[in-house]
Amino acid sequence: MAGSYALDNHHPDAPAHHAALADMFDPFTTERIPELLDLTGRRCWEVGAGGGSIALWLAEQVGDDGYVLASDTTPDLIPDHPRLRRIGHDLTLEPLPEGEWDLIHARLVLSHLPPRREILHRLVERLAPGGLILVEDWTPRPDVVMAAPSVEDAEVYTVFQKTMTTQVFAASGTDRTWGRQIHQAMLDEGLQDVQTLIHARAWPGGSVGCRLVQVLIEEVRPALLAAGLTGQQLEHVRQLLDDRRLIIHGHPMYSTSGRRPKQL
Ligand SMILES: C[S@@+](CC[C@H](N)C(=O)[O-])C[C@H]1O[C@@H](n2cnc3c(N)ncnc32)[C@H](O)[C@@H]1O
Repeated sequence: MAGSYALDNHHPDAPAHHAALADMFDPFTTERIPELLDLTGRRCWEVGAGGGSIALWLAEQVGDDGYVLASDTTPDLIPDHPRLRRIGHDLTLEPLPEGEWDLIHARLVLSHLPPRREILHRLVERLAPGGLILVEDWTPRPDVVMAAPSVEDAEVYTVFQKTMTTQVFAASGTDRTWGRQIHQAMLDEGLQDVQTLIHARAWPGGSVGCRLVQVLIEEVRPALLAAGLTGQQLEHVRQLLDDRRLIIHGHPMYSTSGRRPKQL
């Protein structure tokens, strides 16, 4: 089913998924954005807002004169805030909402959507002159296991990771190499001051990164089984993810920003 997002915000495990993403990446993102612009009074659009933690943070930062739009195909998990408007919006099917933005932020969204280059182009068109776009996506390594209790454990985990990346997510249109392509894509859009930071941590068994993988197993279990993994293998991986002796190379997050020229 190429082109159909593999996850669903209505799944019972979706809140846990978004909470884990927030734990893992909000400290990085909320440090990065203020380094790039002063948020006071800004108009910000959080694209594919998911659980809405960054949208909520932006609404706090922009102050009384600022404004935040948070969009997602399934916006139900985005919290309320007086300066935050949440809308249901599909980036692949609908015209972009009207508006001119000082900041557009999309984290872990465009990698899932095959027309990502065209979507980036349309988002850039919605930037105010001098406005900033920040796109963040991760590119997992093929050899994620840094340490494991046994060689067999490492092999089982490696097969699982490969199935997840090259079958389950690839089948729904996700391109895990996109993170490394954002910088060139922004240059091609004529953006200025394009900068990339790459953020990664090791994930020991029991850490939030491993918890996220456990949640993901439940969210895409039917697809993992259809791709040939057995229930026994999935249980093996699930238990391994609680074992402190497992060390996973966390997926490097490519965080790339660019500015629309002031003179168009
Ligand atoms: C992996 S989550 C990331 C959520 C959030 N940006 C974060 O980093 O915590 C991807 C989000 O993109 C949304 N999404 C997927 N396809 C979309 C589309 N075609 N248009 C808009 N949002 C979409 C999903 O519903 C989900 O909330």
